[in-house]
Amino acid sequence: MSAMDFAGRVAVVTGAGGGLGREYSRALAARGAAVIVNDLGGSTTGEGASTGYADRVVEEIRGAGGRAAANYDSVATPEGGAAIIRSALDHFGRIDIVINNAGNQRNVRFGELTEQDIDAVYAVHVKGVFFVTQPAYRLMKQQGYGRIVLVSSQSGIFGNPIRSNYGSAKTAMIGLMNVVAQEAPPGVVINCVFPNAVGGRLGGKPGDVRPDADFLAAAAKKVPHYIAGMQPSFVAPLVTYLASEKCTTSQNMYSVLGGKYSRIFVGLTHGWYQAGETPPTAEEIEVHLGQIDDLSTFDVPKSGLDEMDTVIALQQRLKKSAG
Ligand code: NAI
Repeated sequence: MSAMDFAGRVAVVTGAGGGLGREYSRALAARGAAVIVNDLGGSTTGEGASTGYADRVVEEIRGAGGRAAANYDSVATPEGGAAIIRSALDHFGRIDIVINNAGNQRNVRFGELTEQDIDAVYAVHVKGVFFVTQPAYRLMKQQGYGRIVLVSSQSGIFGNPIRSNYGSAKTAMIGLMNVVAQEAPPGVVINCVFPNAVGGRLGGKPGDVRPDADFLAAAAKKVPHYIAGMQPSFVAPLVTYLASEKCTTSQNMYSVLGGKYSRIFVGLTHGWYQAGETPPTAEEIEVHLGQIDDLSTFDVPKSGLDEMDTVIALQQRLKKSAG
């Protein structure tokens, strides 16, 4: 096992003035990367701005002997995204790594959600990821090297109450990852991480009002180190790996929760096949639902074309078993 070295590499970590982003920045800087610590420094719902959050993390990194510079632009505008990436070039001359970590939340039940609640969260988690990643991607494409990490959330892919705006915004970036991964040249990889951590402003502390607060308290009683495994320090090694030269996989999704690291994948059951030219009736769909829903055999397509291949594969299997 050789050490992961980031000497000569330049990283941008958005929303890095606290919580998980701070941990990612410190971890990358400790291994030799020069880091742009971006943070708008507003409230958790996205209002206001301040320089203190980013400055503190930069001081910490420099104090430990690392290289870092602060940036206070918002990810939520094209000008802000471009300025964040430009600051990497201005300070350190290149860009190799982008960790899209900035985040806000406006948690209300779906029935009470306002257009402002949707817009504020989509501006940061959806458009912000485009605005920061695109200028970096263009440079990565030219240099033939880049590591892009998108920070998604179980609130979208698995679902958590009171987070329809946040959960759906966090899931939009999976589509972005899938498409960029297929367009990207060799050497530029993009992956998604699904963190779970207390301590960040969005993760809250045990006992805070969060949808899973009761579950967390119960889990902490059952599994001795559950909460220990939810420290940002448990998430940073996964993000460090995904940001490193060693990571050559692209378009993958990894979860870290309570000390457990897993791959998340989107699969498609082998399903039921209606042979011939006559479409099935709704009643026939109902009759075959057991087969359609059967999770015991499945494919994991890596692209839309791959899904098309699953139909051919199914036909061939059926032909083989008939003959
Ligand atoms: P945090 O609130 O401590 O960090 C987010 C940072 O983003 C804040 O410092 C905030 O000032 C900054 N930010 C907000 N809007 C910005 C903008 N427009 N431009 C630049 N910076 C902006 O939260 P935490 O818990 O560390 O979360 C970090 C990321 O991980 C977020 O994207 C969050 O959605 C995601 N996440 C966190 C989980 C957790 O359990 N903590 C679970 C799943 C996802």
